[in-house]
Amino acid sequence: MNGASPKNKKYVLICTQERPPDHPKGCCKQRGGVDLLTKLRDAISERELGEVVRAVGATCLGPCETGATVAVFPDNVWYAGVKEADVLEILESHILRNQPVQRLMPKEDPTRLL
Ligand code: FES
Repeated sequence: MNGASPKNKKYVLICTQERPPDHPKGCCKQRGGVDLLTKLRDAISERELGEVVRAVGATCLGPCETGATVAVFPDNVWYAGVKEADVLEILESHILRNQPVQRLMPKEDPTRLL
């Protein structure tokens, strides 16, 4: 079962927060957050992985300036600047093989802003 089991179900929070275009923090919706959520949900559905991972749309997760922001729980692994092209790598490497995608992990602790 792809190295994961329902007992260890993961939740991928994807920020889809929207703000006005001139807002100083920007927002993850402008940076493709909704497309990330759709792509991940589609991939989970196509691969019938609903028992091992769930993609959840979220309002602001904190580190807006480095969005689009994605966080995987219960692992408490955060990703910054996530693009649509990164979604399948997060799914295949992190979710299915338990190998977080190091290149997408921010250098600073993103929870400092929480
Ligand atoms: S708007 Fe996405 S983290 Fe704040």
